[in-house]
Amino acid sequence: MDQPAAIPDLCVVIPVLNERDNIAPLVSRLHAVLEATSWEVIFVDDDSTDGTRAAIAAVAATDGHVRLLHRIGRRGLSSAFIEGAQASLAPYVAAMDGDMQHDEALLPRMLATLRTGEAELVVGSRYVDGGGVGAWDRTRAGLSALATRLSQMVLKVRLADPMSGFFMLRRDIFDAAVRNLSAMGFKILLDIVASLPRPPAIRELPYTFRTREHGDSKMDAGVLRDYALLLADKLVGHVVPIRFVLFAGVGALGIVFHLLVLRACLLAGAEFPLAQGIATACAIVGNFVLNNIFTFRDRKLRGWGFLRGLVTFALICSVGAAGNIGVASFLFGPAHSAWWLAGLVGAAMSLVWNYAASSVITWRRG
Ligand code: GDD
Ligand code: MN
Repeated sequence: MDQPAAIPDLCVVIPVLNERDNIAPLVSRLHAVLEATSWEVIFVDDDSTDGTRAAIAAVAATDGHVRLLHRIGRRGLSSAFIEGAQASLAPYVAAMDGDMQHDEALLPRMLATLRTGEAELVVGSRYVDGGGVGAWDRTRAGLSALATRLSQMVLKVRLADPMSGFFMLRRDIFDAAVRNLSAMGFKILLDIVASLPRPPAIRELPYTFRTREHGDSKMDAGVLRDYALLLADKLVGHVVPIRFVLFAGVGALGIVFHLLVLRACLLAGAEFPLAQGIATACAIVGNFVLNNIFTFRDRKLRGWGFLRGLVTFALICSVGAAGNIGVASFLFGPAHSAWWLAGLVGAAMSLVWNYAASSVITWRRG
């Protein structure tokens, strides 16, 4: 029997979502450029429905370089890259798209640059001399330029193309960042650089972003929203979890909504207790729906789960309200606090309770 191969030098991690027709040509291109290297490729597939895994299995049947990580119920380029990198022991790790828009001919130069020690991270860059974006429309180019400018808020180092999804780094650099990663959305390079305790030595090598031949881009509004959340998490995430900020924002909207409904009911002639009751119920349902869409988007409840979630959320909020009233009354009465301080502490307490309880009960993981 053949001895199984030892740890390769380079692992190329390729997140894929419905890229069936790109798999085989991409692997042959990797062979062409990495001939002189010991390497492996890990495709991280988020449960594609177009036969992508079958295409990977077909290639892997006769090619020991090819591996697959199949994730179910998950999304996102960033977490896909992270988990692919963690599934390998290779001392050098590269991130590359699975649609052949990244120029694989850069890989050997990236590896050589890391090996000489002149850099710890090498980025395939569209925005240094000699690079480019091929056939992009004005909107896409403008968005990319804006996103690049915004990224400077969280980076301590100059990077011409922090949005690039094409890069290679030393494993110890990845390991130094991995516990601080936000792992949200698409922009894993930015996440890694912003998560390192000290800026790494970076080299940017130019390449031209090619146009896609097979399959479709997954770029949509969700990608932009995830980017905003990533920046927010990098800016304030070490102080408060970004999910909590969203939850509190939804709560603030809920108060406005509550007052609007209350006013409407009173205008319609309802008694105050009834009007307040209706407003409270509307606010709870409204907050539940918004939290389900935004705050816990990655654990979104549907069908019966949605109804069950609404019930547990309403119960949790009721307990929160009771605790709020109890604490505020204690502060105002026996503890002689100012009315506004008592009110504020009570409200803050119920906010924290509602958040903590609903994230483990209503929107529990998996
Ligand atoms: N596993 C997994 N899960 N893969 C995904 C997902 C996902 O949720 N979403 C997209 N992919 C895969 C695609 O199949 C493709 O291989 C790669 O990630 C890039 O997706 P595209 O949809 O082709 O991205 P793009 O061309 O718009 O964006 C590229 O350009 C950006 C720079 O503007 C990507 O290279 C980004 O990495 C890059 O930052
Ligand atoms: Mn693409």
